[in-house]
Amino acid sequence: MIGASTRAMSRAHASPSKGEESGAGDSEGIDPDALLRALEMLAEREARFTERFYEIFFDRRPDARELFGPYSITEQEEMMRETLHSIHALCEDQAWLADNLAALGRSHAEYGVTSDMYPAFVDAFVECGREVLGGDIGDAGFRSLRRATSEITRQMSEAAETVPLKRSG
Ligand code: HEM
Repeated sequence: MIGASTRAMSRAHASPSKGEESGAGDSEGIDPDALLRALEMLAEREARFTERFYEIFFDRRPDARELFGPYSITEQEEMMRETLHSIHALCEDQAWLADNLAALGRSHAEYGVTSDMYPAFVDAFVECGREVLGGDIGDAGFRSLRRATSEITRQMSEAAETVPLKRSG
């Protein structure tokens, strides 16, 4: 599956997108081969990656930790699986992804996730990748991971804008 996806990658990133705070502005930063390789390596080390990711992310955004229940390991693991799955789907230009991310963006707004948490998610994801993968995937791999996670979170965040603020305090 992964091997067949490289061709579609350029199309997936040909669509215009807004710049992100994380600095990944457009499709320039994507190297499909490097990204797919990075994903494969992350999948092999998923348990460690997931554990470290949440440590790094929650360290930076303790307010995000509070949105999770006290025994939410299963949800956290599911969330990481979904993120990795979404990156694959982005590579493969899979049609279901946009609607799925929009739905996730809306449900996350209802959990209390705010748009300013998403750049921290991207930064933590890339930093964790550096830590867990070391130099194995190179700059192109890290740049591509950043670009892909930026695009996914951008779509979630954009959909969240359509959700009326439910929480007043
Ligand atoms: C700022 C970044 C994010 C925050 C703060 C966040 C927060 C949360 C929270 C609070 C939950 C609910 C956990 C519970 O029920 O106890 C959750 C669940 C989940 N998250 Fe995230 N999330 C973020 C990004 C993402 C991303 C990028 C994806 C995937 C593309 C994702 C996918 C999921 C999934 C699949 C679940 C399981 C339940 C559901 O489907 O809603 N999340 N997340």
